Amino acid sequence: MLRRILKPKSLPLNEQLQRMQRDWDQRARENARHFVDTSRTDWTDQDFFASGEQAIAEQILTDQENICQDLDPAQMRVLEIGCGAGRLTRALSKVFGEVHAVDVSGEMVARARAALHDRPNVMLYQNNGCDLAVVPPLVFDFAYSSHVFQHIPSREIIELYVRDVHRLLRPGALFKFQVQGTPIEDSSPDDTWHGVCFNQEQVTAMAQRCGFEHRHSSGQGRVYFWQ
Ligand SMILES: C[S@@+](CC[C@H](N)C(=O)[O-])C[C@H]1O[C@@H](n2cnc3c(N)ncnc32)[C@H](O)[C@@H]1O
Repeated sequence: MLRRILKPKSLPLNEQLQRMQRDWDQRARENARHFVDTSRTDWTDQDFFASGEQAIAEQILTDQENICQDLDPAQMRVLEIGCGAGRLTRALSKVFGEVHAVDVSGEMVARARAALHDRPNVMLYQNNGCDLAVVPPLVFDFAYSSHVFQHIPSREIIELYVRDVHRLLRPGALFKFQVQGTPIEDSSPDDTWHGVCFNQEQVTAMAQRCGFEHRHSSGQGRVYFWQ
């Protein structure tokens, strides 16, 4: 007789945070740029940052009217969650006046810091993996996160982030982010690669609980479920 192994239903928050930091530090040491974008194993500087430029062109520049409202982007202060090796951060810093970016992995932040030493308008922080307490109490005009929440195995942690972004954004400002929209059968609370899946109702309810109005989403049911 076989018994299918029971998956742990939950892990204490601090254990999940430690695992995320440990696993992402390990991935950064192994091949940071590959784990940031797995489409290549041997990214050149040029191609890696060009992929960031392209993503920001598609995700931000095409939506600039909504994101910037009446503000000049060069005067805007922006927050990024999960900067990795600085791929998107570099592109964001060319559009916006000031970029503050956090990542749970000190190894990733070290790589981003080295790659972005020529961008004086970028501020990088290693954070605790669940909130923005490490960021100075400034007012932000826009917040962004891509390819990050899709790896977080806990709705509770993602909601802590959404709540803390609400604390830092000026009234009326937008938070654009992507979550995992495809159910992953084998994901578990200790899996720091396959994040929890959201459907439309779950994201809308989370947004409302955190004080946001849910304005737009696309890609429901897909890995790149954008809000
Ligand atoms: C796939 S990489 C994407 C990096 C960057 N957003 C990009 O697209 O170039 C995911 C990043 O999210 C970070 N990350 C994972 N879980 C996190 C968490 N709970 N809080 C902050 N960063 C996290 C990882 O350390 C890693 O740098």
